[in-house]
Amino acid sequence: MRVGVLTGGGDCPGLNAVIRGIVRKGVQEYGYDFTGFRDGWRGPLEGDSIQLDIPAVRGILPRGGTILGSSRTNPLKAENGVRRIKENLAKQEVDALIAIGGEDTLGFAATLSDDHGVPCVGVPKTIDNDLSATDYTFGFDTAVNIATEAIDRLHTTAESHMRVLVVEVMGRHSGWIAIHSGLAGGANVILIPEQPFDLDQVCAWVTSRFRASYAPIVVVSEGAKPQDGDVVLKDESLDDFGHVRLSGIGEWLAKEIEKRTGKEARTTVLGHIQRGGTPSAFDRWLATRFGLHAIEAVRDGDFGKMVALRGTDIVRVPIADATARLKTVDPKLYEEVGVFFG
Ligand code: F6P
Repeated sequence: MRVGVLTGGGDCPGLNAVIRGIVRKGVQEYGYDFTGFRDGWRGPLEGDSIQLDIPAVRGILPRGGTILGSSRTNPLKAENGVRRIKENLAKQEVDALIAIGGEDTLGFAATLSDDHGVPCVGVPKTIDNDLSATDYTFGFDTAVNIATEAIDRLHTTAESHMRVLVVEVMGRHSGWIAIHSGLAGGANVILIPEQPFDLDQVCAWVTSRFRASYAPIVVVSEGAKPQDGDVVLKDESLDDFGHVRLSGIGEWLAKEIEKRTGKEARTTVLGHIQRGGTPSAFDRWLATRFGLHAIEAVRDGDFGKMVALRGTDIVRVPIADATARLKTVDPKLYEEVGVFFG
């Protein structure tokens, strides 16, 4: 048996730990061979691969990024994409594929498996934690730790200058990173994409914080929007790589807060710092377990499935369950955390 492995979409701390778990168990327990496809779906599309064996995965557990490279290539947009992938898999004698990725990567894995008979197993990955059917994705814990440490640091400089500090964190569609790091870091306002915010209310919270002689920290997800839908925040057109550029809410917010409260404000955009570097212990643990269970699913011939965390158990669910809709922050959780605002 030869198993192909690929990592697609935005990278994420823990990808290498998954690859290592798959290869170690696959070689040592089942005697499988592995082919690593480079740069997500581009690899099988173009037949670009490397050998994956025990020496190739040695020492990669704590390393961020992915030794296989990643891309947002969508084979459905390529001419004869599915046919080319099937031909390349046959040419390289790959019997099954493990796709490690988020919504887009897994969405294509589901299509390939369900509609075209290519045996695929999925592993959920995103720092945003917004994939349904799993309690957590690896990479999220690392991102939250990085954002929390940044918030801790920003508190002290905010206090020294009695300024408002706005921290923009990742999260295009969901506020998981914002709500977890904001709560852990003692932020005074947390703004998430799921709950369009009232700017007057934000300014009232900021002012009340100053009245209590504290400098406020405002954590905002990159995808958060004000209730006033007319405000143009950012350029949402596609860039040359077909990706929506989402940036600007943090800067915009700081300017508006300054204008409306008369208090000095600054913005820190954490950006890709949240995705780079070594995974936390929790993410290494989760990613490794996902890898071990993914290769077990291949061994069982349980294709079209994704491994997922439920409580402390790793279970298998149809890949399509994870990609059908995003997992967003429950309004009740937002309300619960809101007790600290202001
Ligand atoms: O991985 C998800 C994500 O981190 C989003 O939160 C963010 O908007 C996006 O990736 C950034 O992607 P890119 O690295 O392609 O700019």
